[in-house]
Amino acid sequence: MDRLRIVGGGRLQGTVTIAGAKNAALPQIAAALLSPHPLELTNLPQVSDVDNMLSVARLYGARVERNAHSTTIDAGDIVSREVSYDTVRRMRATVLFLGPLLARFGEARVSLPGGCAIGARPVDMHIDALATLGAEIVIENGLIVASARGGLKGARILLGAPSVGATETALMAATMAVGETEIVNAAREPEVADLAACLTAMGAEIEGAGTHRILVQGPTGWQPAKHHGIADRVEAGTYAVAAAITGGELELTNARIENLAAVIQVLEIMGASVRPSNRGLVVARGGPLRAADIVTEPYPGFPTDLQAQFMTLACCAAGTSHIRETIFENRFMHVPELVRLGADIALQGTAATVRGGAALKGAQVMATDLRASVSLVLAALAAEGETIINRVYHLDRGYEQIDSKLAQCGAEIERLRD
Ligand code: UD1
Repeated sequence: MDRLRIVGGGRLQGTVTIAGAKNAALPQIAAALLSPHPLELTNLPQVSDVDNMLSVARLYGARVERNAHSTTIDAGDIVSREVSYDTVRRMRATVLFLGPLLARFGEARVSLPGGCAIGARPVDMHIDALATLGAEIVIENGLIVASARGGLKGARILLGAPSVGATETALMAATMAVGETEIVNAAREPEVADLAACLTAMGAEIEGAGTHRILVQGPTGWQPAKHHGIADRVEAGTYAVAAAITGGELELTNARIENLAAVIQVLEIMGASVRPSNRGLVVARGGPLRAADIVTEPYPGFPTDLQAQFMTLACCAAGTSHIRETIFENRFMHVPELVRLGADIALQGTAATVRGGAALKGAQVMATDLRASVSLVLAALAAEGETIINRVYHLDRGYEQIDSKLAQCGAEIERLRD
């Protein structure tokens, strides 16, 4: 297993190209299975979660052609079959194949997902949404078995909470349901709107994506399509923290200010400056870091996927920060590792109190999940001396070439290959 060696204390300066959003790419790969015509995606990030999702699409029979700039998925000859649990257990997002397969073939068998160890993460809302469209669903031997022999029918789907994944499942399935589907209390994340843009290019009729009420008219007459996905706002937010934590200045090309409003607000409270540039955003810090209070919320609130990174920033800020996690119940796995680097963090349930300002010192640490791992990279950049981060495969799931992107901006970082 690869490790990262980082010597901290340097100031980062330069330009980072923000890749396409992983969380936009994964549902779009699943959506390709709805249509018998090819879908060309031109901004897929080179990360292992995307590789795995494409591998699962291939197991269903899709032909995937990938080069540096574009990926074409041709699902003309796929079949709705069961794929081995080993392939899907690593990634929760593989549950996103359920809706498209059921919608196209009237039946689907998909493993209950595994994925990041950040809590129970059930899929009840995905299942309820499909049942509302007329599917019969049972859980058998760890599989979700869904059928709708007469096809899906448009209906009003009321989501109990604005789940990103359940909204995407409902949206994809609704494109093949006969008549109008209304999704109420839909997630408003930019990745949901980007999925709707992709489905629209493929021929679907969708209104209201990006708001809490989405309308879909089905069934769709599919056509060959091309879609350029949005930039990764979580990657952009992570490099923004890298600039702020090292007192540096980074231009984040492709980053979109409108998708990062809540994040930019916190960055500014904490003492960083953020300004738009022709190509994206510039994040810099000259003065001292200040504490801030953060509560994670569904979009447009502060994203849970940036909570660990901002907790690391809070460790380096003078004063006490309060951080509350409201989306996932077990998303503080980075805390013991940050404490090993010298952080002062007290946990109480879903709330963390960070007493910042103590100097972080390099140590051996263990990556545990995707966002927890990257918070350790950020801590290591700010820490005195050498940090070794073990199990970096977690990072490779969602960050494209993080070591070379950071090295280009002056970080002392090296990948130790096993
Ligand atoms: C997506 C993102 C993930 C991000 C999360 C919240 C992808 C591939 N992943 O995950 O990076 O952290 O949104 O912004 O896009 N829940 C249920 N039942 C369900 C579905 C969800 O109880 O059927 C719960 C979850 O356990 C969690 C909350 O709802 O507590 C939010 O989950 P959801 O928005 O669905 O997240 P994901 O789509 O899994």
